[in-house]
Amino acid sequence: MNISPPPANLCRVKRELEDGYELDDDPGRVELDVVCEFLSVEAYWSKGRPRELIEKTFHEATRVVGLYAPDGPMVGYCRANSDEVVFAYLCDVFVLAEHRGRGLGKELVREMVDGSPLKDLRWLLGTADAHDMYRELGFRKPSFRIMERPGSKFADDPPSE
Ligand SMILES: CC(C)(COP(=O)(O)OP(=O)(O)OC[C@H]1O[C@@H](n2cnc3c(N)ncnc32)[C@H](O)[C@@H]1OP(=O)(O)O)[C@@H](O)C(=O)NCCC(=O)NCCS
Repeated sequence: MNISPPPANLCRVKRELEDGYELDDDPGRVELDVVCEFLSVEAYWSKGRPRELIEKTFHEATRVVGLYAPDGPMVGYCRANSDEVVFAYLCDVFVLAEHRGRGLGKELVREMVDGSPLKDLRWLLGTADAHDMYRELGFRKPSFRIMERPGSKFADDPPSE
């Protein structure tokens, strides 16, 4: 697999969580089968997205963070795209069902938004139902100055409020 080196100002981070879980932003550790399976089959925002397009989003991400279970397999993921000056867009956040409800999703997102030099940028995301989790991490309703142009079939296009 051809993985681009990280942007120079993004350091590699590995962080241990309770119960032996681990967060790691090394793209070389990401299990693309897990990511592609979840995003193409289960995720409400990307169901049906072809594998090659999911792989493209992974390869072109500014930063990815993986969540790993104590025995090693990847059980969660998120990615961000950023110009590294003004904005960062968070997407494809998931924790596999059997690992949910123990604070791992919040730590995964916390690591992404607070754990790198991107932390001071304007972060944007779309969500259908996890507003409370994101609110706890500093996200809020956008101001009237933000507008969106809805996407087409394979664009990340969460339902508007
Ligand atoms: C959303 C998701 C990543 C959360 O992962 P998780 O490990 O279960 O989350 P946590 O245990 O860290 O929960 C953090 C908080 O957010 C709340 N929360 C999590 N997911 C939520 C959801 N879908 N709707 C409403 N609240 C949610 C939890 O109740 C919890 O609240 P608390 O801190 O008051 O207890 C996970 O449920 C998931 O992968 N869902 C399917 C994919 C998805 O919807 N991704 C998000 C797209 S924006």
